[in-house]
Amino acid sequence: MNNGDVSQGRRRFLIGATAAVGGVGVVGAAVPFVASWNPSAKAEAAGAPVTVNISKIEPGQQVTISWRGMPVWLIRRTEEMQSSVEKLNDKVSDPQSEAPQQPAYIDGILRSLKPEMAVLVGLCTHLGCVPTYRPEVAPADLGEEWLGGLFCPCHGSRYDLAGRVYKSQPAPLNLQVPPYRYDDDVTLTIGLDPEAA
Ligand code: FES
Repeated sequence: MNNGDVSQGRRRFLIGATAAVGGVGVVGAAVPFVASWNPSAKAEAAGAPVTVNISKIEPGQQVTISWRGMPVWLIRRTEEMQSSVEKLNDKVSDPQSEAPQQPAYIDGILRSLKPEMAVLVGLCTHLGCVPTYRPEVAPADLGEEWLGGLFCPCHGSRYDLAGRVYKSQPAPLNLQVPPYRYDDDVTLTIGLDPEAA
């Protein structure tokens, strides 16, 4: 599904909004832009798919997109980050993601359609806090064995860079993977399954 100009405008907004909660006020000055954005925002709240241009996401960078009122994270994983996931297979509670926390077409330990791009709902499976992206290796507060991942500040649940929860955490399940597909190499739509699925 292609929303044409509206999608183009939304892509720019969504990428730009990553770090800026206060950015809404700035965008508000651009009346024509907001006029095209508002209907999409209503549609999004009702569950419409969200199309994102991922070409500007740098290796190691995390970007947050809003879908159905939830934060969805896109993380461009470096090869080192991908291999860190494999190293954690015996430390996470559901390494093969047997619990239905992802669509059926998502399999493997990286839990993604392409190895370099993680797509995860950024809500802790314990009580729904938003975890923090902690890609650094062995930071002082998370310990020497930390290989990069996601840390929930509410009660301390730890996830790896595929959203797999470590063993013995308050959180019982891996992070959710939303339905998504690639429209082309740099365009991803959250909320739609791949056409082959
Ligand atoms: S909500 Fe994340 S650990 Fe409790």
